[in-house]
Amino acid sequence: MKILLVDGTVLGRKTGAILEEIQGYIEQFDGTLDLELVRFSDYEHQIVDGRPFDQYNTGMQELVRKLESADGYIFATPIFQGSIPGVLKNTLDFLNPKALRYKPVSIVANGGTHQHHLVVENQFKPILDYFRALVTPNYVYTHTSHFDDQNNIIDENVHERLQELARVFVKYCELSANLPKQPLD
Ligand SMILES: Cc1cc2nc3c(=O)[nH]c(=O)nc-3n(C[C@H](O)[C@H](O)[C@H](O)COP(=O)(O)O)c2cc1C
Repeated sequence: MKILLVDGTVLGRKTGAILEEIQGYIEQFDGTLDLELVRFSDYEHQIVDGRPFDQYNTGMQELVRKLESADGYIFATPIFQGSIPGVLKNTLDFLNPKALRYKPVSIVANGGTHQHHLVVENQFKPILDYFRALVTPNYVYTHTSHFDDQNNIIDENVHERLQELARVFVKYCELSANLPKQPLD
């Protein structure tokens, strides 16, 4: 299965650091998964404005195709202005509504405010529910204080939660593999 670890921001380093960490944990639980880290900062993003798809830049076309054809996702998001970054929502707006259906998804997030883990519950999960993704019941929210100056995760509890998330995610991959998918229209 092709699993994308999606760093859904063009600004900041901590979400990418979380993904690098969880990548190692997923590999420990299931070495057969084909994991790829996708950084939004590697793309020149364009706003969804209704133009024909082939008129977007090649990077955006490649990103959308990559997302639509993957078999599962770890989405990483920072918290910006009490929500997910606009660039992440914009990229999700490109996708066919069936693209994530019955595919396993886990969320990791980072913010500067402890209470804003609720952004995951109240804003990001409902979007993924709309897509009918298989969202794992657990997610990991980190705070700036969980990192050192080089963005290494120094909080042991965060490591444990990432390990547990990886363990559950690979089970959701097995579940998803047995669920028939519908072709995209
Ligand atoms: C434009 C902007 C808005 C932000 N808004 C919030 C916010 O509403 N809640 C919060 O917890 N953190 C907020 N933050 C903090 C970021 O979530 C946090 O600084 C970031 O995830 C730290 O990662 P970095 O060091 O990789 O940039 C904001 C940061 C920026 C740049």
